[in-house]
Amino acid sequence: QLEAEADLVPQPRRQQNRATEHFEKASPVEFHNAADTDPDLPQNRDWAGAILGRMADSELGDDLVSSHQVTNQKQLDEVIDSAIAAGETWRKLPLETRSRVLIRIGDHLAANRGRLIEVMGSETGKTIDQADPEVSEGIDFARYYGQQCLELDNIAGAKPHPVGLTVVTPPWNFPMAIPTGSMTSALATGSPVIIKPAPQAQRTAAVIVQAIWDAFDEFELPHEILTFVIAEENSLGSNLVTDQRVERVILTGGYETAKLFTDLRPDMPLFGETSGKNAIIVTPSADLDLAVADVVNSAFGHAGQKCSAASLVILVGQTARSKRFHRQLLDAVNSLVVDYPTNPEAQMGPVIEPPGEKLTRGLTTLEHGQRWHLRPRLLDDSGQLYSPGVRSGVQPGSEYHMTEYFGPVLGVMSAETLDEAIEYVNAVPFGLTSGIHSLDPDEIALWTEHVAAGNLYINRGITGAIVQRQPFGGWKRSAIGPGAKAGGPNYLLSLTDWTDAPDTV
Ligand code: SER
Repeated sequence: QLEAEADLVPQPRRQQNRATEHFEKASPVEFHNAADTDPDLPQNRDWAGAILGRMADSELGDDLVSSHQVTNQKQLDEVIDSAIAAGETWRKLPLETRSRVLIRIGDHLAANRGRLIEVMGSETGKTIDQADPEVSEGIDFARYYGQQCLELDNIAGAKPHPVGLTVVTPPWNFPMAIPTGSMTSALATGSPVIIKPAPQAQRTAAVIVQAIWDAFDEFELPHEILTFVIAEENSLGSNLVTDQRVERVILTGGYETAKLFTDLRPDMPLFGETSGKNAIIVTPSADLDLAVADVVNSAFGHAGQKCSAASLVILVGQTARSKRFHRQLLDAVNSLVVDYPTNPEAQMGPVIEPPGEKLTRGLTTLEHGQRWHLRPRLLDDSGQLYSPGVRSGVQPGSEYHMTEYFGPVLGVMSAETLDEAIEYVNAVPFGLTSGIHSLDPDEIALWTEHVAAGNLYINRGITGAIVQRQPFGGWKRSAIGPGAKAGGPNYLLSLTDWTDAPDTV
């Protein structure tokens, strides 16, 4: 039976390929976004069924994880020394070779699509409809940066140097796309990398690292160019960041963690993608059917555990007063299938762990003027599987308005005018993603001009940025560092050092 499963190859979505072809015409380098798997084809359903069958008891990568435990400072020193030594080999490779290695990494990741979905589901509860596009995004990062690094030779008057040893500390919520993007970007600039995965997603990281090593093997490159480190001891994790031989840290996590890292290494530019408190505005001109679908997907995909998730919907004028939007929203949220990812129908899975104090407040505590449209319920005794919650009457300046909860709860706000709605969006300390649903070009222009966020989405959901088409990065407290966006044309350059470049063209 296993052999038969191995023969199954997922078929991509054809429609998505067409969109990609169209976009490529405007692209400076040839790049193809990997297509997601088409869930409607019968052979893909068999493929998915086999993955979900293995998910519950997945043990992939365990050996790799345990053999990379770093338990004392001496081991950490050795790891850093050999990463730097291997980095010399990597830095000296011709750009064309580096590019080919990265593109092969993309191929090896693509060959592991099913495995990655399986391990992500078993570790983090990510449902297959969320995990499959995430694998595409990770493949895209490797291939895109593989193409982009060739451009590093074409910068007038400058020779960008690799910054040197780069530590990557990714989050658990995008355990495939984010570590892959961070690692391959640093590798593309010629720097060696140490990855310290999120404790909740170590096995997913191990599968990615193995795919990268498989590509290294083809080019007879040392694995230490990319070192996989598990340091359970908190102090060892800090020692890694504070070690003066580490030149960069690429962090994705909460704003508070980024602050901590900045305090640990005030001398070092930190690349940080941090928190968000994101809203979708719906105006009276909007296509409400589309708006409802996009709000629901953005709010409850991966149980709301995305820095890009919609945590607020702001209804403008008539939309706030009419019953139609509310009724449709509740019907749509009620119809979500909430279950563990082993259920192929599941659209929303569990939260990563039983909620802490903040998320518990988000799921249980109403403030003045608020009421539950749908009260979140705990569906079993795991403490992790919640039905989605919708609260209305969120007031400007309330705790709910300002706080990132990172869970399956959506708040509804009302605004008299679009200006007022934009004011509410901009009042939060973060500025990651933002959306508007409107069919009025003047409204869209007004919003685009005034809204303060890194990623703006018009008549679309606000999660799931696509590499190259929608480079991803935040403003305000949603980012720390020079502000170049991941998956966009400036990102690699911002990870290089070109201060000592010759000043003549
Ligand atoms: N890139 C992800 C998204 O767009 C968030 O990290 O949803």
